[in-house]
Amino acid sequence: MDKLNDLKYEGYTNEIKHREQVDLIREVFYYQSRFDGKTIVFKIDYPIINEPHFGQLMKDLAMLRATGIEIVIVPGATEWINEVLKEYDIESEYKNGTRVSTEESIPFIRMAAFDVADRFMTALTANKANAVIGNFVRARGMGVINGFDYQHSGVVDKIHAEPLQQILDQGMIPIFPCIGWNAAGKPYNLSSDEIVLAVCQALKAEKLFFVTNSDGFFKNIFQLPEGLVMTSDDRVARLSLEEADEVLKMNVDNEDNDLHYLKLALKACRSGTERAHVVDGRIEGAIIKEIFSNLGVGTLIYGSEYESIRSMKSDDLPEVLRLMQPLMEAGILVNRTEEELTNTMNDYVVYEIDGVVHACGALHDYGEGQAEIAAIATNPTYAHLSMGKKILTYLVEKAKKNSFEKVFVLTTKTVDWFEQLGFKSVKLDSLPEKKKVLYNHERKSMIFSLDLKNIAALPKSR
Ligand SMILES: CC(C)(COP(=O)(O)OP(=O)(O)OC[C@H]1O[C@@H](n2cnc3c(N)ncnc32)[C@H](O)[C@@H]1OP(=O)(O)O)[C@@H](O)C(=O)NCCC(=O)NCCS
Repeated sequence: MDKLNDLKYEGYTNEIKHREQVDLIREVFYYQSRFDGKTIVFKIDYPIINEPHFGQLMKDLAMLRATGIEIVIVPGATEWINEVLKEYDIESEYKNGTRVSTEESIPFIRMAAFDVADRFMTALTANKANAVIGNFVRARGMGVINGFDYQHSGVVDKIHAEPLQQILDQGMIPIFPCIGWNAAGKPYNLSSDEIVLAVCQALKAEKLFFVTNSDGFFKNIFQLPEGLVMTSDDRVARLSLEEADEVLKMNVDNEDNDLHYLKLALKACRSGTERAHVVDGRIEGAIIKEIFSNLGVGTLIYGSEYESIRSMKSDDLPEVLRLMQPLMEAGILVNRTEEELTNTMNDYVVYEIDGVVHACGALHDYGEGQAEIAAIATNPTYAHLSMGKKILTYLVEKAKKNSFEKVFVLTTKTVDWFEQLGFKSVKLDSLPEKKKVLYNHERKSMIFSLDLKNIAALPKSR
């Protein structure tokens, strides 16, 4: 019997591998159609240019453009400007975090800024993408602040959205050097971070990417609040705006570059960009992985709804059955037919990410103040992301709202998980009569129960 179970389990793991590939292809199609004709703005740190796969990164951007996604590139140039100024022996002073661009330094700053933009254009041209470096930014000087003259350092006054949109409509990729001009044509050195936020707003960008040369949001680098969605390698997969605020608060004394980008991402999301991503640009394929899969490789900051738990609808049946099928075949879940699911539809909830169902669960009323939590299943590709726990918490809350005194589960393989979440082993006798008669003695499921009168919340899983 054990051997049979082992074989079933092996079949289940092979099936998972196949499904992972199919799921990925489906996700690519989903996101491709979702972003078709939409604008994605990329702020790319200068050091990424010197990474061995910079050419491949540009190839990926060219491919995205060719598939119908509008691409805008704002390269960072700080490090290259520093090198050029050093090379020409020109002193570069910073005042309150802003480079002071003097009469003497501005020609060299322009040269360096355009040189960086040109390197992006060259790499895109090599990949048959049409790119254009333009004067899309109207600037004004910072002027004199507290008696200090910032000379050629400026701020963004306006993005010329109309010509920019025309260029995008023609399939070209605009590149923004960190230079802007006032109405009379006087050049100013601008912060590329400021440009990127202004461009996102002016073009109503769907997404903003910070392609950085830093490690990203890992547990060992930052103080993190409890309950974040973490990947198995301890990366913060995504943050709501409130969670991002919390991370910033907890790390005020940390000067890590990623926190700077997190601040900018929050600003962008609060000004209307739906989602911002911080990704380590040194990872090969980082951008396409982050765009085309729910899991990504960086951290997503989202302002609009990204994931939700909601009641199951009849449209969800194929996806829910697909989640359950391998688990039923492996004997982990009790068999359920489509008809049975339809008849108990109101008991079911699903966990949806960007329109795709990734987990499910049910709460069945058995009378005597008790309800069964059943059919909890998560997509194995998305294991360890707390989806199972969130579904369980949702069902426990639902049971509390509906004045149940206890919830119970019957399980063969998930004992530790329920115990870790506060469920206690109980005897068959404690089940309500209606469930007792249905209990399958051959299956030998273990019974666990949670007393709802005595819990405030489920224990945190991390
Ligand atoms: C059990 C299940 C729902 C957990 O889903 P999940 O989204 O991966 O879980 P969470 O992210 O909330 O929790 C992950 C933790 O649970 C642990 N866990 C997962 N499955 C487990 C199991 N079968 N037994 C014990 N612990 C388990 C993980 O090791 C992980 O621990 P960590 O946080 O210390 O790394 C999922 O593995 C599943 O669908 N299993 C098959 C169906 C099933 O058994 N359903 C329950 C019967 S109704």
